[in-house]
This record gives sequence, structure tokens and C-alpha cells, in this order.
Amino acid sequence: MKKWLLKYMKDHAWLITLSIVIVVISALVDIMPPYIVKDAIDGYITNTSLPKAERLQGVSKDAFLFLAVISSSFLLNFLSLYISSYTGAKIVYEIRRDLFDHVLNLPMSFFDKTHSGVITTRITNDTQNLMEFFTTVVTSLVKDAFLIVGIIFMLVKLSSILLLHLSPVLVLVVIVTVVFRKYARRIYNIIRSNIAKINAFLAEHIAGMTVVQAFEVREIKKKEFRDITQEYYENAIKQLKLFGFFRPSIDWLYSFGIALIVWFGARYVYNQRIGIGTLFAFASYLDMFFSPIRDFAEKFDIAQNSLASADKIERILKNEREELGRGGRKHVEKGIVEFKDVWFAYEDENWVLKGINARFEPGGLNAIVGETGAGKTSMLSLLNLTYIPQKGDILIDGTRVHDYDLLELRRQIAVVPQEVILFSGTILDNVRLFDESIPEEKVEEALKKVHALEVFQKFPEGIKTKVTERGGNLSAGERQLIALARAVLFDAKILVLDEATASIDTATEARIQQTLFELAKDRNVITIAHRLSTVKDAKVIFVVHEGRIVEVGKHEELLKKKGFYHRLYSKLKEGGEEVGKVEDRADRSWQDSAKKTFGGTMEEFGNI
Ligand SMILES: Nc1ncnc2c1ncn2[C@@H]1O[C@H](COP(=O)(O)OP(=O)(O)OP(=O)(O)O)[C@@H](O)[C@H]1O
Ligand SMILES: [Mg+2]
Repeated sequence: MKKWLLKYMKDHAWLITLSIVIVVISALVDIMPPYIVKDAIDGYITNTSLPKAERLQGVSKDAFLFLAVISSSFLLNFLSLYISSYTGAKIVYEIRRDLFDHVLNLPMSFFDKTHSGVITTRITNDTQNLMEFFTTVVTSLVKDAFLIVGIIFMLVKLSSILLLHLSPVLVLVVIVTVVFRKYARRIYNIIRSNIAKINAFLAEHIAGMTVVQAFEVREIKKKEFRDITQEYYENAIKQLKLFGFFRPSIDWLYSFGIALIVWFGARYVYNQRIGIGTLFAFASYLDMFFSPIRDFAEKFDIAQNSLASADKIERILKNEREELGRGGRKHVEKGIVEFKDVWFAYEDENWVLKGINARFEPGGLNAIVGETGAGKTSMLSLLNLTYIPQKGDILIDGTRVHDYDLLELRRQIAVVPQEVILFSGTILDNVRLFDESIPEEKVEEALKKVHALEVFQKFPEGIKTKVTERGGNLSAGERQLIALARAVLFDAKILVLDEATASIDTATEARIQQTLFELAKDRNVITIAHRLSTVKDAKVIFVVHEGRIVEVGKHEELLKKKGFYHRLYSKLKEGGEEVGKVEDRADRSWQDSAKKTFGGTMEEFGNI
């Protein structure tokens, strides 16, 4: 049994104990009816040695007893089902709640390597399967085990000689069941992984449908999907055959057992070695014995399913959470950011950042430039500990970022990411991040600062317009405006902008630029820049190349060096952008122009 699952069970120990006790009692009660009938037949109905009145009285007594036993069996079964379902639902609710809480606190590296479809399945389906564990496994299997032991005891008590005749059948039942179990488990695991593959495939391709359709890879994808469903189909058929064989063979063994009993039983009845009631009870017990075995396949499936789910949930739980509030420092005073020989890799030793040294100060824009994949986004994602560098230190106001309270730290660094993701809700909700204590006027003020208010006011429902999943009903530029307004609203000491205006028209961008310059007066604004307008007026420019900072300085100084920056810059000009006329050009980023010049391969761009 899993340790973590035990922990949840412990909290409801007495409910679980109660349901097991009830299950055991109900198994005992369920065993009684055939014996009562046997008593009525052998003790009274066929017992000619007793006077008639006594025989009738005896039969009535047994009939009442029978009724009482059947009624209490009904009551006990109801109670055990109710209590176990209640306990199961409660435990599963707690697990689901804690699991999501756990996932919320996992580091970004976990999400890089885990498919979102997988996480969803864990929190919804797998927890549901665990519920089956409590309702089916705990109650049915425990009950079946007690029933089988009880029945064998009764069979011995009734007639051990009949049982002896039956023993070859029972041995065969055991063999068939053991063999079945072995194959069922194997095929079961294969089928699970087939289903997981189908789910992952669907999740990925439905989310990426625009790409699938735009690039006309529909035929290829159709074939891929056909292949994986085919594999699933073939295994499902194998499983069906196995199950199809198991149940009828158990049924056959049952009928064979009954035939044996009638065959031998009749002889013993003639010889008066056993009563007719005993024969009846014996047959009834045999029926009771086979019914849990018949359902075994199905219950086995459920049990296996819930255990597999427990395993998978455990794998998620094993991922360590980020420790919130590890450090004690809470306030960012000035917002001076320093990178000291920072080395970072997403995995193993594939260094993305190789010894970054940089100092970003408030007052004027800090710009970072460099070609695609140079490591710009990675650099800034270390700042609020989205990822943790393997070597080196990042200091904010002279204190290592690790020594800040993570929650407070993140609150004081506003990020406008490269890819803005919005949540279902209104524009208003998305700007204030669902914090209703922030008044609407403040949100409007922030939107105004980034010149977005006029844009959204044109919408039919203004800033109360609904945003669909991930912001699908807004343009890329509109999404960026929302993210910018959010950053302004939360008034952080450090403002990080990752190509924040890449999709915004040049006229609006110029105005936003003005706002940024004003904001930069008393806070640290670090921007990954892509347009010359931003770079030219920046206080310092950091040129990143293959994970290193290769040049630092102002636009004019860097140009004079005739190094990396000069090359980036002249390529940009060749790509069609002229200094001084920058504002006339819409939507042209460093990468876009580089791609245009070099047919899109960034490696080439880096090597020039
Ligand atoms: N989550 C990730 N897991 C593994 N590798 C990653 C991940 N994110 C980025 N990388 C790799 O790290 C390198 C730097 O990526 P980064 O996103 O920092 O580049 P960038 O300079 O921001 O580029 P761009 O201008 O295209 O945004 C790239 O080679 C990229 O493939
Ligand atoms: Mg980037």
C-alpha cells in the first residue's frame, strides 16, 4: 500500500474500519440463507419422525429467520456501500485538492517535461479511479474473500465427502484464475499505455490545430493517429478474447460442478447418507462460491486500474515543490539587479547561459539584444526564480534572490512575457489578475498609461469584454497591451519586458515607449528589445551571443566597436530598416529581418 495513500486513509480510519466491520458482518449474514433452507428441509419438511404440528412450527420459525436474515443483509449491504462511497468520495476530494495545490507549486522545469494532458488526467481521471478503489476494492474484494472462506467452511461442514468429489473442479478454477490474472495484467498495462498515447496525441494536436491546418499536415497526422489507434484496437481485441475465454470457462466449470454434485449427491441421498436439504444447500453454496469468481475479471480490472492510478499520482507527488518563503527578505528597495557569473542549463550540461555578468540599474531603459536562441528570455526567467541557475548568483539590491521570500519577490517583479497567456474572464479581470479589491478606475488608469484604454473602449462591452481560453479572441498586440497594463498596475520596482511590443503598431509603440521612459525614472526597466527605436534611446545595451554577454554600451559606442552589435544592426538595415525611419516601419523585429535576410536559419545569422 502506498504511504501517501495510507496517510489519507488514516484520517478516516474509523470510517474505513466501520465499513470493513460491516462488510465482514454482511458476509457472515449472507452465508446463512442456504443453511436455514437446509434446516427447514432436512429438519422439518422431510423429517417424518416428528409430529406434524412441530414440523409446521419448525418451518415457520425457519421462514421468519430467513426473512430476518435477508432483510438484515439488505440493510448491511446498503450501509456498507453508503459508508465506503462516502469515505471514498471524501478521500478523493482531499487528494484532488492537494494534488492541484501541489501542481501549482511545482517548478517550471516540471511543466517543461510534463504534458499538460497528463497533468489533467492525473487530477481528474486518476483520482476518480482511486474512488473505485475504496468502493469496489475495499468493500467487494474484502467481502468476497470472507465469503469464499465462509463458503468453504460451510461446504466442509455440510458434507466433506461431496466436497472431495468437487475438488478437481475447484483446483481447475484456481488454475484458470491464476493464469487469467497473469495475462490480464500484462495486456492491461499495454492497453493503458496505448490510451495514454492516444490522449497525449489528441491533446497536442487539438491545441495546435492552427498549425496542423495551415501547414497541411492533415494527411500525415491522420495516418499517425490511425497507427496508434490501430495498435490500441489490436490489443483491445486481445483483451476481449482473454476476458471472453475466462467467463465462459468459469461458467462451464460451475455447471460441471453442479452436475458432479447432482450425480454423486443423488447416490448419497438414496443411501441416506445426506438429506435432500443438504444437497440443496450444497448446490446453493456452490453458486455463491462461483459468483465472486465470475466477477473477478471485472473487479480485477478495477483494482488494477486504481492501483495504476495511485502509482501515477505518486509520480506527480514525488516532484519537489518550490519552497515558498525560504528567504527572509521581503522588500525590494531600489531594484538594482546583478548577475554574477551565472551558468544555466535547462537540462544536464547543455549550457544556455555561460557565465553571465551584468548589472541593471534603475533610471533609464536597460536593453538586451541578440539573435534568436541567444539566451535572452532564459536570462530574465532566472530573475524571479522561474528557473534556478546551476552556478553563480543573482542579486537584487545586493541580496541573493534565494534569500528573498519568493512570493514577495515575484510580486515585486512585473513581467510582460514573450507569449502573453490570458485566462478565461474579462479584460478587466485579466489586467487586475482577478483581484477584485483593485478598483476599476485604477485598471482604467493603467490601461490609459499604455494607450490601451481607447483600443478596448471600442469593443462592444469595453473592458468588460470576455476573453476566451488563452485569450484566443484577442489579437497578439491586444494581449500584449493587457500584459503591459498589468505590469504598470502592479507598480513593481522591477519591470521585465520580453519583446513586449513586438506585435503592437509602431505609432502606439512609440507612445508606450514614452510611458516606459517615464516609468524607468524610478524603477528598473529591463527590456528585451527588437526595434531600433527602443535600442537607440536605451541607457545601456547588453548584447547576448550564444549564452554570453559579448558587448555592453550605448548605441553609438557599440556601433563604433564594429563588433556583434554593429553586425546585428547593419543586417537590420539591409533587411530594409533604416535608422531614423524606424517609426515608419510596422512590426519588424530583429528576428524577422534577420530571417528575411538569411532565409530563416538563425545559426547562419549567428555565424556571420
Ligand atoms: N524550456 C526549455 N527547455 C529546454 N531548452 C530551452 C527551453 N527554453 C529555451 N530553451 C533553449 O535555450 C536557448 C535559449 O533560449 P531563449 O528562449 O533564452 O532564447 P531567446 O534569446 O529569448 O530567443 P528569442 O529571441 O527567440 O526569444 C535556446 O537554444 C532554446 O532552445
Ligand atoms: Mg525569447
